[in-house]
Amino acid sequence: MLTDYSRIVVAYDHSELSKKALKMAMNLAKQDNQIEMIVVMVLQPVRPMPYSYGFVTDSQETQREEANTIRNEIQQELTELPNKTRTVLLEGNPGQMIVDCVKQNDADLVVMGSRGLSGLKELFLGSVSHYVVQKAPCPVFIVK
Ligand SMILES: Nc1ncnc2c1ncn2[C@@H]1O[C@H](COP(=O)(O)OP(=O)(O)OP(=O)(O)O)[C@@H](O)[C@H]1O
Ligand SMILES: [Mg+2]
Repeated sequence: MLTDYSRIVVAYDHSELSKKALKMAMNLAKQDNQIEMIVVMVLQPVRPMPYSYGFVTDSQETQREEANTIRNEIQQELTELPNKTRTVLLEGNPGQMIVDCVKQNDADLVVMGSRGLSGLKELFLGSVSHYVVQKAPCPVFIVK
């Protein structure tokens, strides 16, 4: 059943649960090398808030550099798969950018964490996962 999904988008914010989501999606992809995987990371514009992608005091440029380093690490990790894979780094509102990415690539599954970097433990879903579950045109696999 799971291999019915041919193009998977993984939403990655470098949180523990997003790492788990990436592993999960990679395991899915290993079941069928026709599955394509797109890992999407969204940088939020820097503003004076407790967290924007976790890099609190960073300038936008530093943030981009750090995100690119992470992106390269992921790309490296993905080379163990025979599948077609891609890592994209976008800027904007994370929920909206993830949903746009799903639509633009005509993906048929999203894999993401229930919570992310800010991780308010009382809430089952963070704002990004909540948004994506509501707006994505396809099933969303929530890792917890
Ligand atoms: N900037 C992002 N880029 C890509 N994926 C993201 C991003 N932010 C969150 N995600 C995905 O959404 C999942 C849930 O994170 P979310 O941000 O909703 O929760 P949170 O950080 O705990 O709470 P909030 O951000 O609402 O304060 C993460 O595990 C990750 O898969
Ligand atoms: Mg978050």
